[in-house]
Parts: sequence; structure tokens; C-alpha cells
Amino acid sequence: MIDLSKDDETCLAETPSWTNEFNHDRFYCHPENEEILKNYAEIAGLASACDIQLIYDELKTAHRILDVGAGYGRAIEALFDLGYKGEIHALEKSENYCKRLAELFGNKITIYHDDVFAYSTDKPFDVLLSLWCGIGDFTPGEQLGYLRHLYDLLDDEGTLYLDTSTWCIQSVNTEYVNTNTEYLSEQFYLISEREYLAQGYIPTINEVKACAKCAGFRSIKVIRYKTDTYRERFLYTLIK
Ligand SMILES: C[S@@+](CC[C@H](N)C(=O)[O-])C[C@H]1O[C@@H](n2cnc3c(N)ncnc32)[C@H](O)[C@@H]1O
Repeated sequence: MIDLSKDDETCLAETPSWTNEFNHDRFYCHPENEEILKNYAEIAGLASACDIQLIYDELKTAHRILDVGAGYGRAIEALFDLGYKGEIHALEKSENYCKRLAELFGNKITIYHDDVFAYSTDKPFDVLLSLWCGIGDFTPGEQLGYLRHLYDLLDDEGTLYLDTSTWCIQSVNTEYVNTNTEYLSEQFYLISEREYLAQGYIPTINEVKACAKCAGFRSIKVIRYKTDTYRERFLYTLIK
């Protein structure tokens, strides 16, 4: 698999047969996906947004937060529930989720219906969220570009909070639900639910660190935490 001793983008040269675009077309763009995703959030122990609670002390002083790949608004709802007073922006590629976000939050948030790579701004953010292993929707080769792009969306000194599940440990739904996540290797997985398919790649800590360093982040911290269903995950704090 990947050579962890290499500390640059050459370690991400694998070329799987899927792309982030495929995941959108085969999985996220379908309206039924919300129900599927909410069920996964319950199983993963993320439904009550313990990830947001974990970092809320740091988030509460942020002025402008961009939730990258905001989905059905799990993290945004938690920010409101916890009393966050700053601006909330949501970037989401799926039209269905954008409609859902508009229904749920109306003009309390700003929604960008776009692909993350197509989105740019002249008003960078002090905080970006890329939670629930959002990076895993991108292939190893795309992940460095993803972090580089997020770096560019941040203010000087801005912070990216990035979550991943653990690799090696079977996570969402394999233990509790009649297995529809198949591990093709320790890090590559395939989710098949009804007629929908998504593929992903969970980067190791060393891979996240190498990518973040290549992207330009000056400080990289990681904590291991347990969700409400005692699943272990990693939460990275990457400072520009
Ligand atoms: C696993 S869900 C996570 C949702 C949300 N971040 C959360 O923590 O609840 C991943 C989301 O990222 C979105 N997404 C995937 N690729 C994207 C891209 N290239 N641009 C924008 N959004 C994307 C998907 O449509 C999906 O809603």
C-alpha cells in the first residue's frame, strides 16, 4: 500500500478506479441518501454531533465558519443548539442537501451549491469544518488537492478541523448492521446501500500530516476520541 516514510505528495500516487465525482453521482445526489446518512450517523455515534461538542470551546469565538460538504446540516444544527453567534456558511455539492439546508436554516446561513474545487471566495474564513471523514470521499490522489484548496479558503491563521474514522478498525455499520460497508483493504472501503454505491479512502495520521504539510499548514494536531457509540475517530486541528 502506501509508503508512510515518504513525506510528500508522492506518497499519494495511487490511482483507484473511482473519483469523488463518482460518489456524488452514485450516492450523494440521490434524495434517499439523507435517510441512509442519518442512519449511519446514529450507528457511528455522530448523530448528536459529539465532534462539534468536542471543539465548541474553540469554535464559539470564530467569526465565520464554512462547513465543507455540509450534508443535511448535522454540524450546523449543533452549532445553533450550542448558541454559536457568528456567521455560518455551508458548501455542498448535492442539490438535495442544499434544498434541505435552506428548508432547515433559511437565511440564518449562507449556502453555496458547488463542488469544493470550483468554489473560491475573496472573503476567507477563520474556521473550516470537514467532518465525518469528508476527506474520505476523495481518492488518495485527490486528498492533497482537497487540503490545498481548503488552505486557500482560510484566513491567515485560520483553522481547519478535519475528522476521519480510524482505518484498520471496521467502522460504520459493519458491526451492527448487516454489513453494507466492505473493506477492500485496510483503508479503501465500499459502501453499497440499496442501488447506491460510494467508495472511500481513510487516510492514516501520517498521510494527513504529509498532505497538510504539503498544503502549507504550519501546525497539525490530532486527537483520538470516542463517539457516542464508542467508535474511535481522529479529529485534526490544522492551522494555516
Ligand atoms: C459524509 S457526508 C458529511 C456531512 C457533514 N459534513 C457532516 O459532518 O454531517 C459528506 C458530504 O460531503 C458532500 N461532498 C462530497 N464531495 C463534495 C465536493 N466535491 N464538493 C462539495 N461537497 C461534497 C456530500 O454531498 C455529502 O453531503
